[in-house]
Amino acid sequence: MRIGPIAENLLEFAAVLLRLGPRPLLETHSALLLAQALMVATRVGLFEALGESPLTVSQTASRCGTDERATARLLRVLEATRYVRASNDGRYAVTADARGWLLEGSPHSLHDNVLFRFVEWEWVGRLEEFVLSGRPLDIHTEMTGDQWALYQRGMRSLAGALAREVALRTPVPRGASAMLDIGGSHGFFAVALCRRHPGLRAQILDLPEAVSQAAPILAREGLGDRVVHRVGDARTAELGIGTYDLILISNLIHHFDEAESRAMIRRAAGALRPGGLLVIQDFFPPSSTRRAGQTAALLDLYFALTSESGTRSFEELAAWEKGAGLAPRRPLRFLTFPGAGQQNAAKPR
Ligand SMILES: C[S@@+](CC[C@H](N)C(=O)[O-])C[C@H]1O[C@@H](n2cnc3c(N)ncnc32)[C@H](O)[C@@H]1O
Repeated sequence: MRIGPIAENLLEFAAVLLRLGPRPLLETHSALLLAQALMVATRVGLFEALGESPLTVSQTASRCGTDERATARLLRVLEATRYVRASNDGRYAVTADARGWLLEGSPHSLHDNVLFRFVEWEWVGRLEEFVLSGRPLDIHTEMTGDQWALYQRGMRSLAGALAREVALRTPVPRGASAMLDIGGSHGFFAVALCRRHPGLRAQILDLPEAVSQAAPILAREGLGDRVVHRVGDARTAELGIGTYDLILISNLIHHFDEAESRAMIRRAAGALRPGGLLVIQDFFPPSSTRRAGQTAALLDLYFALTSESGTRSFEELAAWEKGAGLAPRRPLRFLTFPGAGQQNAAKPR
C-alpha cells in the first residue's frame, strides 16, 4: 500500500496521469494536516459525539468543547476524507469507516492507536537529527509516564485488528499448556490464544513501565491467573530451560539489533519444551520494494529512528532460528493486516 494522489474528478485524473499535480505538496502539506486533523478530532471526542447521534456544527462544537468556526473546517476535512457525512439538514454523522476504525467501542477500533500518534509526532519531528547523525532515539528509555500509557493503549488497540486471525492461524502445539509472550505489553494476543486453547496459560514479560500501564488493560479481559504479567528485561530475564510449549515474540524483534535478536532467539529456543513452538510475529517487508514497498519502507525507517533496528525478512529470522537449533516453518502472512506475519520454528523432539 502507498500514500499518493487519488484523483477526485476527470481533470485531476488527467493531471495524475500526466504527472502534472504538485505531488510533493500533497505528500507533505496535505499529509501533515490530514494526520493532525484525524488525531485532533479523535482527541476532542468528535467521532464519539457524532457516533451517538448526528449533530450540527454548533452542537458538535458544544459537545466537544471546541471553537465553532474551527470545528466547521475540521468537519469539512473529515467529510472530504469520508470519515463523516453531512445530510441535507446540515447535521453530520460518522461513516462506516469511522464507526469501525475510530469509535472506542468497535472491536477493531484504532482510537487509542491514533492517540499514540501524538507521542510519535514528537519522535518523527526528530527524523532529520537521525538522518544526519545515524543515532536512533531510544524510546524505551525516554518516554514519560503519560507516553508509556499512550504507548501501551496504542499497542492494544492495534492488536485488536489482528488478534482473531492470530488465534485462528497460530499453529499451537497439541496439548500446549504453558506460553510466554516476550514484550507482550497488553497481553491481548496471549488472551486470544488462551481463549481458543482452554488448556493454555500465559505469562506476559515486559519492562516495569509497560507492565504498570498494561496491567489494567489485561485485567479488563477477565482471564484472571491464566494470563499474568511478569516484569523483566527480555534481553536478560531468566527464561528457564524446557519450560514453555509456546513462546511468542510479537513486534519486539524490530527494536533489537542483530546480536540481541539472535541471543533472544537462542534463549527462547532453550526455554522451549521439545516439540514447542517459537512464534516471531512482526511486520515483514514485501520481497520487492518497487512493487509494494512504501508502507513497509516507511515502517522500516520508523523502527530505525525509534530503536536500534528495523524490519527483518522471513529469511533472516528463519536463519537465526535454524542457528538456534530450531526447525523453521514456512512464513505465514496475515490476511486481515497487510504486512503482518509470523516466522515460526519448532523445537525438535
Ligand atoms: C511494539 S510493542 C509490542 C507489544 C505486543 N507484543 C504487540 O505485538 O502488540 C513492544 C513491547 O515490547 C516491550 N519491550 C521493549 N523492550 C523490551 C525489553 N528489553 N524487554 C521486555 N520488553 C520490552 C515494550 O515495552 C512494548 O510493550
